Amino acid sequence: MMKFPDGFLWGAASSGPQMEGAGSSGGKAQNVWDYWFQKESVRFFQQIGPEETSGFYAHYKEDIDTMKQTGFNSFRTSISWARLLPDGIQVNEEAVAFYRDVFKRLDESGIKPIVNLFHFDMPFRLYEKGGWDNREVVDEFEFYAKVAFERFGDLVEEWVTFNEPIVPIEMGYLNDKHLPGVFDLNRAFQAGYHTLMAHVKAVRAFKDRNHRGKIGIILNLTPSYPRSDTPKDLEAAMWADVLYNRSFLDPVVKGEFPEELLSFIEQEHIHVRYFPGDFQLLKDSPVDFLGVNYYQPRRVQAGAPASTNTLDHYFEPYQWDGAKMNPHRGWEIYEKGMYDIALTIRDQYGNIPWYIAENGMGVEGESRFRDSSGMIQDSYRIEFMSNHLKWLHKGIEEGSNCYGYHVWTFIDNWSWLNEYKNRYGLVELDLKTGRRYKKKSAGWFKALAESNQLPDLG
Ligand code: BG6
Repeated sequence: MMKFPDGFLWGAASSGPQMEGAGSSGGKAQNVWDYWFQKESVRFFQQIGPEETSGFYAHYKEDIDTMKQTGFNSFRTSISWARLLPDGIQVNEEAVAFYRDVFKRLDESGIKPIVNLFHFDMPFRLYEKGGWDNREVVDEFEFYAKVAFERFGDLVEEWVTFNEPIVPIEMGYLNDKHLPGVFDLNRAFQAGYHTLMAHVKAVRAFKDRNHRGKIGIILNLTPSYPRSDTPKDLEAAMWADVLYNRSFLDPVVKGEFPEELLSFIEQEHIHVRYFPGDFQLLKDSPVDFLGVNYYQPRRVQAGAPASTNTLDHYFEPYQWDGAKMNPHRGWEIYEKGMYDIALTIRDQYGNIPWYIAENGMGVEGESRFRDSSGMIQDSYRIEFMSNHLKWLHKGIEEGSNCYGYHVWTFIDNWSWLNEYKNRYGLVELDLKTGRRYKKKSAGWFKALAESNQLPDLG
């Protein structure tokens, strides 16, 4: 019997920009995604824009009922900054009423709301000012966080500052998958540093005002596995780990930067502007808990010295022969990675309380798996979750302080540049009618959550 600890959190994660819709109503201002779609809709899969989400803004009551029927005892979403503070000064009371009703209904349904402040959705007016490149945005974020704590603090006990803070940096400053879409290592570090300071200021504001509950952050951790045990490959894995995991993990949990990161900054002649007092503030503001999004590992080998891409000097990806792939997303499925993360947190991060904040499988063309009743038989998703949970359970048995598992996601949702190409939900969204239909995995998840133990594959 794979029993999970009492009070284990079972549920799903989503985000405001990916599920709310009502992008230009309810008083919401534009965020970067609304702007980008308006400007360059061809970049978006099948040209489906951020208005075409699952429509939680209109459907939240029935959606919360469905969560309850699926056995959820918790659910994570994010507040839209551009909805709550359209001009950065005046609070949008319509947004307050909407979020308050959502959080209240979740609570009345026995579902703990876990509320995130930032999920890749920079308000456009701040993007115009330079976004995370600009230190002023740190102060704007601090103000936004304070407003959220004050307006919803009586209904929310578990707060998250950022989801995957490294993603907008990696995708926007070393890639062109988020705006601004440049390759600039110096700007990447500056924007990353400002993101971190925005996190720190929000944590401080929360603690200084003695708000009830706890505050944490959600990081996408990708354990780095070297191609071989040669010193060069081991060093490559170390760099991948320092840059993509420890760059945020160490400061938010330990209050300090990894030494290797500081030497990287020096080696690459990166100049990060900071304020006196920043480092003390960082030291004084560790998180109460950590959320971990785990989808895939990172397989690395020594980099090619002649490469033109700066980071490739340090490490390069390689395709492991034994890899089991999710061909739709192109991501490797490596369940043991979840166990490795569990032990790393236990042994190297003081066994801080943590939970799996996202894990899931995006699949294209799920309609072909419909049975005669019309239900999508997503046994592959059940197997995916089940195999990960076995490794997570082993990590918990061995003492890792993990208190929950959230699947990505509840209802198929809109996704950045991929839109509905890969479906992740336990519940299917009919894009034409907006109707929702449970997939087979929703029933399996209910059995899992209600029994607090791993059910048969079904
Ligand atoms: C996570 C993000 O990294 O992965 C989500 O927090 C995202 O916002 C999810 O939707 C799945 O990735 P994708 O790109 O397939 O939607």
